[in-house]
Amino acid sequence: MNGMEPRFSDMAERLEGSEILRLANKVRGMISEGKRIANYTVGDFMPGEFRIPDSLEEAILRNYKAGLTNYPPSMGVPELKKAACAWLEHFYGLSYKPEETLIASGARPLIFLTYAAIVNPGEKAVFPVPSWNNNHYCKLLGLQAVPVQVKPEDNFLPTADTLRPHLKDARLLTLTSPSNPTGTCFSREALQGICELLLEENTRRVSVGEKPCYLLYDQMYSMLTFDREHLIPTQLLPELRPWMILSDGASKWLAGTGIRVGWGYGPKDLMEVMGNMLAHVGAWAPKPEQLGVAEIIADPEKTQNAIEPLKHALHHRLVQIYNEIQSWVKEGFPVQIIEPQGALYLSLRLDIVGQVTPSGKRLLTNADIADYILEEGRVALVPFQAFGVKEDNGWFRLSVGGVASEDIMPSMANLKQTLEAWKK
Ligand SMILES: Cc1ncc(COP(=O)(O)O)c(C=O)c1O
Repeated sequence: MNGMEPRFSDMAERLEGSEILRLANKVRGMISEGKRIANYTVGDFMPGEFRIPDSLEEAILRNYKAGLTNYPPSMGVPELKKAACAWLEHFYGLSYKPEETLIASGARPLIFLTYAAIVNPGEKAVFPVPSWNNNHYCKLLGLQAVPVQVKPEDNFLPTADTLRPHLKDARLLTLTSPSNPTGTCFSREALQGICELLLEENTRRVSVGEKPCYLLYDQMYSMLTFDREHLIPTQLLPELRPWMILSDGASKWLAGTGIRVGWGYGPKDLMEVMGNMLAHVGAWAPKPEQLGVAEIIADPEKTQNAIEPLKHALHHRLVQIYNEIQSWVKEGFPVQIIEPQGALYLSLRLDIVGQVTPSGKRLLTNADIADYILEEGRVALVPFQAFGVKEDNGWFRLSVGGVASEDIMPSMANLKQTLEAWKK
């Protein structure tokens, strides 16, 4: 061995570490040195600020006390499969049977298994950028990633026009709404257009005997939309049902990132194949958590009571920051922000690429800007590069789940201070 040869599998060697975790480590290091940092990086909830609903906590603890700590069924406990169907039917009017669902330890395994069950190595998987993690699933599985750059004027979401040139030969199209990192949601018109495009493509393929393009609709933040309805492709075009996989879970809208319960819906044969893979990997959610989540989502009133305070708290923080930064625009600061529509995120542009800081450092990349505002303003943001974007154009994700309410306005004042030199 000369030290240059790969030591591990090709897959392990080509996988890249997470940019978000690199930043998170830097932030943690600064905090351990006693520095007070406003950490807007993590798509998580600070436990002191956001807890899972009491009803869920009580149910999970009760299930542990009852000793339900043996293996769960590998496809998920029947109670949760049934509850996930009742929840989808009640809130979105879509009817699925328990055998068309799969339960896992959060949404990640479901997303990974969808890619693994549908796309062969070398085949195409299409997804917009910025988007969360799709590039990594393609790397893990050796797929041909087709990232489609989306624009701020489209709220950083794809349209039929942006996707049309890329769908031919694709085996999977992944869409996310509300979106991580952008905090934006599909409009009815935009989603309808994409659905019609996909139906047209699959109708053509069926007629010539080609394999279809499946649609993974990752709706992890489904119940966290602000003053707008969450839309699901088959509500708009039911004919897409044979090719659609929906993934959802308790991580975000029940503030339960650490309880690891996710659920998905799709064609029964696909759910079975994915269930077989899951059985070998064992990425199941513990039974007490599965049964606890089932108790909440089976009951629309409990669900509504559980999400309302969380939704309110997130929206309040997002609007506070949005309004503040909008006022900077009027004052001539080089910033741009997109109105929050869902999830825990804001898309924020610090339009200072290429500028020189007061101490003489030229900010050539988004990473340079992130480091500058972290060191000078004690504010941590994630560059869109962490979500597959190549161009250094000053766009960042700001997440409000990891910051104490009282730290928001002081941290905004610090951020503003770091931008003072470029005020027009
Ligand atoms: C869009 C999206 N999908 C899926 C996930 C993963 O969810 P889980 O933590 O349940 O695996 C995340 C997590 O950040 C996400 O943002």
